[in-house]
Amino acid sequence: MSELALQVNGKQVSQDVTPRTHLGDFLRDNLRQTGTNLSCEHGVCGSCTVLVDDKPVRSCITFAVACEGKKVTTIEGYDDDAIMRMLRGAFNEYHALQCGFCTPGMLATSRDIVLRLPDADQERVRIELSGNICRCTGYQGITAAVLSVLARLKEQPDEQVEQLRAGLRQNAPREFPVFQAFEPFAATKPVNVAASVTAGQAPATGKPGGVKEGKGTSVEGGFDLKVPAGQVWTFMTDLKAVAGCLPGAVIQEQDGDRVKGQIAIKFGPMAAAFKGNATLERRDADRVATLRGEGVDSLSNSRARGDVTYAIVQKEEHLCRVNVSLAYSLQGPLAQFSRSGLVQDFVKRMIADFGKNVEFRLLNPDADASDIPQSHISPFKLMMSVIWGRIKGLFGVGR
Ligand code: FES
Ligand code: FES
Repeated sequence: MSELALQVNGKQVSQDVTPRTHLGDFLRDNLRQTGTNLSCEHGVCGSCTVLVDDKPVRSCITFAVACEGKKVTTIEGYDDDAIMRMLRGAFNEYHALQCGFCTPGMLATSRDIVLRLPDADQERVRIELSGNICRCTGYQGITAAVLSVLARLKEQPDEQVEQLRAGLRQNAPREFPVFQAFEPFAATKPVNVAASVTAGQAPATGKPGGVKEGKGTSVEGGFDLKVPAGQVWTFMTDLKAVAGCLPGAVIQEQDGDRVKGQIAIKFGPMAAAFKGNATLERRDADRVATLRGEGVDSLSNSRARGDVTYAIVQKEEHLCRVNVSLAYSLQGPLAQFSRSGLVQDFVKRMIADFGKNVEFRLLNPDADASDIPQSHISPFKLMMSVIWGRIKGLFGVGR
């Protein structure tokens, strides 16, 4: 047991909890704050969403002890909150609930949208809400309710809401982060390549060494290109060219194989723009390279570090395989998403789309990044294709 002290709905609470107790269980079982609903308990449905230090968090996958000294707000604790007051009225007006099971989490996420994204349009609101599942309403009323609050706040700004938004802007670090010396990432230690291959995976030779060991999460994927391996290697070691094929990536400074820049990621409720630096380590003889990077998302104060290892294997004269291994770890509020199967599927689709973009650039040498077909870099379409793939998998379609 550990002693846990935190603030819940404005009251100081101190209790003994086991280190494995989740925040959702702690709120419901220990504090009898049963307005927080648990459903999937895997971080997927969003029904358990509460605010921790004013940011939405999935209480089913957050350890209670991780909230030591923090401020937790549940659906029972919004009585003095201007945004929630407006959202509650709008949810009634637009019939944004039926059974109400998803509503506490839906309201917490909606509050975050209203606070963070004053200019959000319908598409943005839908994407932001996509991490909260409702089995009753069809989302129309929920979206309309959130949009109505955003519109109302534009017409009649509210002093409390303006203060909250100003606080959010102020708390976001503006300085470019200063990084500590980079330690090699544990999950990308070289492994016995032949031993790591299983049926249906990429070919044995040249498989990158990402493995599920140590800290972090590892995702592997790859793509075939109808281009000679040497040409692909030249392209893949040109960091500006590679960034141009990676959705959301921008290089701001380059010094040889070191770059500073930003990568924006959007997955359902998770939106982040990690600013940081990366270094390319290359083994030209084997056509294997590792891009080691780390960065900080200023909005959530989450920190990411990761290694992208790619190995280019010649298969035929004009055909090669690019095996890609991404090993990453997240710290901070976004860490709760890092191990979800959906996120890992998302990364695999990103790798596949990245491959299409690389092929496009190689086959169209006069084109630049802005000529890449937009259909390959839409995060929304990417996410929908992941979810559709999961649904098909559940029902055995395509097996
Ligand atoms: S119960 Fe927490 S996300 Fe579903
Ligand atoms: S209102 Fe029933 S699950 Fe959303």
